[in-house]
Amino acid sequence: MPVITCIDDLKRLYRRRVPKMFYDYCESGSWTEQTFRDNVNDFQDILLRQRVAVDMEGRSTATKMIGQDVAMPVALAPVGLTGMQCADGEIKAARAAEAFGVPFTLSTMSVCSIEDVAENSTAPFWFQLYVMRDEDFVKNLIDRAKAAKCSGLVLTLDLQILGQRHMDLKNGLSVPFRPTFGNIANLSTKVRWGLGMLGTKRRTFRNIVGHATGVSDLSSLSTWTTEAFDPRLDWAKVKAIKKMWGGPLILKGILDAEDAKMALKIGADAIIVSNHGGRQLDGALSAIRALPAILEAVGDKVEVHLDSGIRSGQDVLKALALGAKGTYIGRAFIYGLGAMGQAGVTKALEVIHKELDFTMALCGRRNLGDLNRDNLLVPEDFGGRWG
Ligand SMILES: Cc1cc2nc3c(=O)[nH]c(=O)nc-3n(C[C@H](O)[C@H](O)[C@H](O)COP(=O)(O)O)c2cc1C
Repeated sequence: MPVITCIDDLKRLYRRRVPKMFYDYCESGSWTEQTFRDNVNDFQDILLRQRVAVDMEGRSTATKMIGQDVAMPVALAPVGLTGMQCADGEIKAARAAEAFGVPFTLSTMSVCSIEDVAENSTAPFWFQLYVMRDEDFVKNLIDRAKAAKCSGLVLTLDLQILGQRHMDLKNGLSVPFRPTFGNIANLSTKVRWGLGMLGTKRRTFRNIVGHATGVSDLSSLSTWTTEAFDPRLDWAKVKAIKKMWGGPLILKGILDAEDAKMALKIGADAIIVSNHGGRQLDGALSAIRALPAILEAVGDKVEVHLDSGIRSGQDVLKALALGAKGTYIGRAFIYGLGAMGQAGVTKALEVIHKELDFTMALCGRRNLGDLNRDNLLVPEDFGGRWG
C-alpha cells in the first residue's frame, strides 16, 4: 500500500487504476485548457502570513454551509459519471462524505440515481440540477430530490451548452462504456476497475434512463447534451425552479459580479463562484481571481462559496480568508475515488482537512471564522488588471 500524503499521490494512483477514457474525462478543461490551468495556478499567487507565539490548542474547522453543520467547509462537488470512475462511485463518495461530516452533491448526470444514493446512505445530500428542455422531466427530478429528502438544490447555470473537451471526442467517451479496439488494450490493464464494474448493475445514467422521454441517443454525452439541455435557461426560469423546489437553493457557476447581484435578487441562499473547473468558457478568469469582486458586490448579503482549482487545504484557507463561507472539491475527490474507492475519498478529505487545520494554526488562528484578509498577502492587482 503506497503512503498517501497529498492529493497528487491520489492522482498518480488514480491514473494507473482507471481507464484512460475516464481519466481524460476528469482531467480535461475545454479547448486550450487555459482556465483549467489558471484555476490551480492562481492560488499560488496568494501567499500566507506566518504568525507565531499564538496558542494553537483547541482548534476547530467546524462551521456551517447554508445553515447546515459541516466538519469543515469543503463539500463534494457534483461530478457527472462518478459511477464510471469506480463502481457505485456516487454511493461510495456519499458515504465517505457522510462519515466525514461534509455535504455530498449528486449530479443530474450521475450513474447512481437519487434513489440509489438515498437508499444507501443516511445523511441528507444535495442534488445538482441541470435544466433540460423537457419541463416535466425537470419537475420530476425536483420531486424525486424532495422525496429523497435532499437538503439543498444546487442549480448549475454555466452549462446550457457543453464546452468542448478534445479528449472526450478523441476517446469516443460513452456511457455505458463501449469497448473499441483502442480502449480494450487499455482496459486489459485495469483489472480492479473492470471487476468492480462487472459486480454492479449501475452502469448508465440512472437519473435519466427510464425517467426522461424523447431522448434518442444517451450513449454519446455531447449528442445527448445538445438535444436535452435547455439553452433557453434564463433568470425567469431560475426563479420558477426556486419556487418549484421551495428549499435551500445554491446557484452554481457565477463568475461575474453582475450575475451575483442577479442571484441575490432572486433570493438564492448561496452562490458558487465557479467556472465548472475550467470545463466550460475557456479564457474565463480563474475562480479564485473572480472571488474578491463578487464578495465586494454581494458578500455581506448572500453566502458565497467557491470551487475550481482546489487541490489542498491551503487553497481552501485562501478562499475562506478572502471571505468565502464554503468551498467544494471536484477532481480532488475523484482522484481518491478512482485510486481507492470510498477509502480514497476519505483519504482526500483527510488530506485536505489536515492541511487546512495545520495551515490555520500556523497562520495564528484557532477557528475558521477568525480568518480574514490579514492572514494573506494578496498582490494588489489580484482581482485582475483587465478592467
Ligand atoms: C469530471 C467532471 C464532471 C463534472 N460534472 C459536473 C456535473 O455533472 N454538474 C456540475 O454542476 N458540475 C460538474 N462538474 C464541475 C464540478 O462540480 C466543479 O465545479 C469542478 O470540478 C470544480 O473544479 P475542480 O475539479 O478543480 O475542483 C464536473 C467536473 C468534473 C471534473
